Amino acid sequence: MPMLEDKFSRPLQDLRISVTDKCNFRCRYCMPREIFGKDYAFMPKDQLLSFEEIERLAKIFVELGVKKIRLTGGEPLLRRGLPQLIEKLAAIEGLEDIGLTTNASLLEHMAGKLKQAGLKRVNVSLDALDDDVFQAVSDSGVSKDRVLKGIKKAQEVGLGVKVNMVVKKGMNEEQIVPMAKYFKDMGVTLRYIEFMDVGQTNGWDFSKVITKKELFEELSQHFELEPVEPAYMGEVAKRYRYKGTDAEVGFITSVSESFCSTCTRARIAADGKFYTCLFAIEGLDLRHVVRTAKDDDEIRQAIVPTWEKRSDRYSDERTEETAKNRKKIEMSYIGG
Ligand code: GTP
Ligand code: 5AD
Ligand code: SF4
Ligand code: SF4
Repeated sequence: MPMLEDKFSRPLQDLRISVTDKCNFRCRYCMPREIFGKDYAFMPKDQLLSFEEIERLAKIFVELGVKKIRLTGGEPLLRRGLPQLIEKLAAIEGLEDIGLTTNASLLEHMAGKLKQAGLKRVNVSLDALDDDVFQAVSDSGVSKDRVLKGIKKAQEVGLGVKVNMVVKKGMNEEQIVPMAKYFKDMGVTLRYIEFMDVGQTNGWDFSKVITKKELFEELSQHFELEPVEPAYMGEVAKRYRYKGTDAEVGFITSVSESFCSTCTRARIAADGKFYTCLFAIEGLDLRHVVRTAKDDDEIRQAIVPTWEKRSDRYSDERTEETAKNRKKIEMSYIGG
């Protein structure tokens, strides 16, 4: 099959699949409790893609060039029986990597089963080591110790582990250096994520972004860092090594240094909508396609032109105006 490419010659290589829009955290920048409260209508079960539907779609995407699948949410570990899905995905020939992005509150208990099912890596979201800051950001009642236990267990069972820290002015800047020290000593890669204007509800404003440049300057007062070459085209994080060690740190610079020109990622939301950008407004209804198609070819024929027509480069084009006025979908729905 000839390689599938979009309007800017970007191949489709990574697929992020959200398995639930629910989460047991209420991070202020993602699911603020005023909006995602008791009465918030999450998706009913019959609107979620089933594991069989996800497996069928994943096989087709791998035939079209996808090498890496990442499961996301909401919080993906809330989806019952997740290891069964991982087992199905791990059996797909040609798929090189399966990862999971999680808040790790349920990871200690699940890590062994996930690894056994064929998961390779977890990226854990953790924005602070100080429990007061952690509580204020995640608004969950879960202690950060539970997250750290999850990380430790994941390492013990042999999963690759990275930590994602969203940094935002007035939220957790005093945690930047303590987080670096802690994860450097543990040999876990920490990636700082610039606060992004995803969704409609997180109150984004450029003045709240802490850029890579600012982070780097602060870290340079404490550590000596040297750049590391990207491992593959389209790598999201800019990576550095602490000099004289194997430990790395990374920066995800969607705001200050966008990386759209090498973006090879597509996303499937929990209800089966297919999006070609994190900041997309409309998606292709793959759930309808998969539930009505007479064969796999019909599904392929829905996906191929959608990718071929793709011209998304939102972060390259971001302005205060688009950030405020564009009607974007929520992070917890599209999966980050
Ligand atoms: P690795 O495979 O470990 O490199 O994972 P990843 O960094 O691709 O995935 P992860 O879920 O850990 O995402 C880290 C951060 O990068 C999150 O805040 C994502 O929303 C953000 N991110 C991932 N892909 C994109 C992208 O294509 N565009 C933008 N703007 N942000 C992205
Ligand atoms: N900006 C940057 N990163 C975000 N995440 C969630 N919301 C935002 C935002 N507005 C992060 C989570 C998780 C990853 C999938 O996306 O913390 O690590
Ligand atoms: Fe949940 Fe992750 Fe969003 Fe926090 S950032 S509310 S853990 S989905
Ligand atoms: Fe890809 Fe859209 Fe992110 Fe740009 S903004 S890197 S096109 S997902």
